[in-house]
Amino acid sequence: MLVAQISDLHVRPVGQSYKNAVDSNRMFAAAVEHLNRFDPRPDLVLITGDLVDEGLDAEYANLRDLLAKLEPPCLLMAGNHDDREVLARCFPDHAYLPSRGPKHFVIDRPPLRIVALDTTVPDDHHGEVDEAGLAWLEATLREANGAPTLVLMHHPPIVTGIPYLDKYMCRQPERLAAVIGRYANVERVLCGHVHRPILQRWAGTVLVSCPSTATQIALNLRPDAAPASFCEPPACLLHWWRDGAIVTHTSYIGRFEGPFPFA
Ligand SMILES: [Fe+2]
Ligand SMILES: [Fe+2]
Repeated sequence: MLVAQISDLHVRPVGQSYKNAVDSNRMFAAAVEHLNRFDPRPDLVLITGDLVDEGLDAEYANLRDLLAKLEPPCLLMAGNHDDREVLARCFPDHAYLPSRGPKHFVIDRPPLRIVALDTTVPDDHHGEVDEAGLAWLEATLREANGAPTLVLMHHPPIVTGIPYLDKYMCRQPERLAAVIGRYANVERVLCGHVHRPILQRWAGTVLVSCPSTATQIALNLRPDAAPASFCEPPACLLHWWRDGAIVTHTSYIGRFEGPFPFA
């Protein structure tokens, strides 16, 4: 089973750019084409938040049109740039999204189980999970009966070392780690939000964040680093379940000139 992950599309209304700088709509369309062409074709596409940039109806309308070209089925999560209520209203056919409140959901796609935890805080940019969300996560993991599980959350609950990202991490990570650490069948924690591929051993499992399909956050580890984004190559992650384990690949989106092959 091949599960693709894309993140942080920051789709804008038709004809508008992201941060008045890059055409995130065109870049998302390129990601869709990349996934459609990948051989073997992914069985499922996970989209881990910041689907649009300002939570606008016109952005979600454009997202619908762009997503219509994606051939594999997809699952949508909210990020801090989304309006989760507008998202649910604009995608009523995505019935796994609760119509009100946090957009937690669980999907069984044997052999895998997908558990999506909504870490968004309305009108704020950091992440947080309340007591009800933690209880939902615990109950959902407990009922999995050992099925290999992917836990999705938009905000990584880790310190990345990039100072202006860490202000907006998922707060109180120890509460989440205590729950997830009890379930050895959690194969991955899959995040977005940080617009970079970052990996850490966390809560007894492997946490990995997905690059953006638009801009990448500058890799600046100095404590006084100012926020900055670059146009590094966009990418997706491919989580391949085979022989009882998941291997995660990074697949860059776009054309990168040769010469190739080198042999
Ligand atoms: Fe983002
Ligand atoms: Fe985000």
